[in-house]
Amino acid sequence: MMDAHDLPFEAQLAARAEAVEALLRQMLDERLLPGEIARPGTLMAAMRHGVLNGGKRLRPFLVLESSALFDADGEAALRVAAALECTHCYSLIHDDLPAMDDDDLRRGQPTVHRAFDEASAILAGDSLLTYAFDILADAATALPAERKLALVLGLARAAGPGGMAGGQALDLEAERRAPDEAGIIRLQAMKTGALIRYACEAGAIIAGAAEEDRERLAEFGSAIGLAFQLADDLLDLTANAETMGKATGKDAAAGKATLAALHGVDWTRTQLAGLVAQAHALLEPYGERAALLKQAASFIAEREK
Ligand code: IPE
Ligand code: IPE
Ligand code: MG
Ligand code: MG
Ligand code: MG
Repeated sequence: MMDAHDLPFEAQLAARAEAVEALLRQMLDERLLPGEIARPGTLMAAMRHGVLNGGKRLRPFLVLESSALFDADGEAALRVAAALECTHCYSLIHDDLPAMDDDDLRRGQPTVHRAFDEASAILAGDSLLTYAFDILADAATALPAERKLALVLGLARAAGPGGMAGGQALDLEAERRAPDEAGIIRLQAMKTGALIRYACEAGAIIAGAAEEDRERLAEFGSAIGLAFQLADDLLDLTANAETMGKATGKDAAAGKATLAALHGVDWTRTQLAGLVAQAHALLEPYGERAALLKQAASFIAEREK
C-alpha cells in the first residue's frame, strides 16, 4: 500500500491546507462565541476575504509537521496552525495597505482594501490578530495550561515589536535608508523569519517536547525563515505577477535593498542551497520522521511561486 508520505510534497501541503482551511472557514462564520455581542457582516466578510483565498498555508504545515515529529495531539496542533495563519493573513492585509506596500493583488485576487475599503482592511487585520490569541486561549485548544501560555507568549513575541511588526517597521525605514547586509538579515529574520520560526517551535511546544528539541526546531525555523524571504525577494526579481498572484518588481521600484537585488540570482541560489543544507542537518536526529519537514525546507528554497 502507498504510504501517505509517498505523495509529492505539493500534495502533502495541499492536504494539510485543506484541513486548516476547513477549520478557518468554520471559525470565521457568523456564529457567535460566548461573550461576543455581534459579528458585523462586512467585517467578517473582509476577514474571510483575507484568509480564505488560497494561500499556500506553509506556516500551518510547519506547525502540523513539527508537532507530528513528537506525536503531538493533532486536533490541538490544527488549532494552533489556524491561529498562526490568522496572524500571517493579518500581516498580509496590513502589508498591502496603501500606507505600506500599496498592493492591489494578493493570492490572485484584489487585496482586502481593494475588495472592501481601507477601514475594513485595517479592522479585519486587527480582528485576525486578536482572534489568533482567542483561538490559542480557548478551551477547545485542549492542551495543558503551561503549554498554552508558552504558545501565547511565543506568538506575541514573534508577531510583536521585536518580531514581525518590528520587522515591517524596519522594512519601511529601509526604503528611505538602505541598511547594511547585517541590517537586511536582521530585518528579514523579524518580518518573515519570526512567524516561520514560531511555526516550527510551536510544534515542539504543543507536544511538550524537551527544551533541546524546542531549540532545535526553532533553529530549523530560523534557517528556513531566512530562506523563505530570500526566495520571496528572488521571485520578486524574476517571476511574474500572474504566477505569483501578487505584483512583482516591487522591491526595486520601492528602492528596497534586498540580498537578492544586492548580490544577484546566482549568489542567492547558492545561499539558499546552504540554508537548506543547514536546515536538513538540524533535523538529522529525527531520521525518517523528519522527511516531510526536510522536503518543506527544499520547497521553500526552490519554490516558483
Ligand atoms: C508572503 O508569504 C509574505 C512573506 C512573508 C514574504 P507567503 O508566500 O507564505 O504567502 P501565502 O500565504 O502563500 O499567500
Ligand atoms: C511582507 O514582505 C512580510 C509580511 C507580510 C510580514 P513582503 O512585502 O515582501 O511580502 P509580499 O511580497 O508583499 O508578499
Ligand atoms: Mg512589505
Ligand atoms: Mg508586500
Ligand atoms: Mg515580497
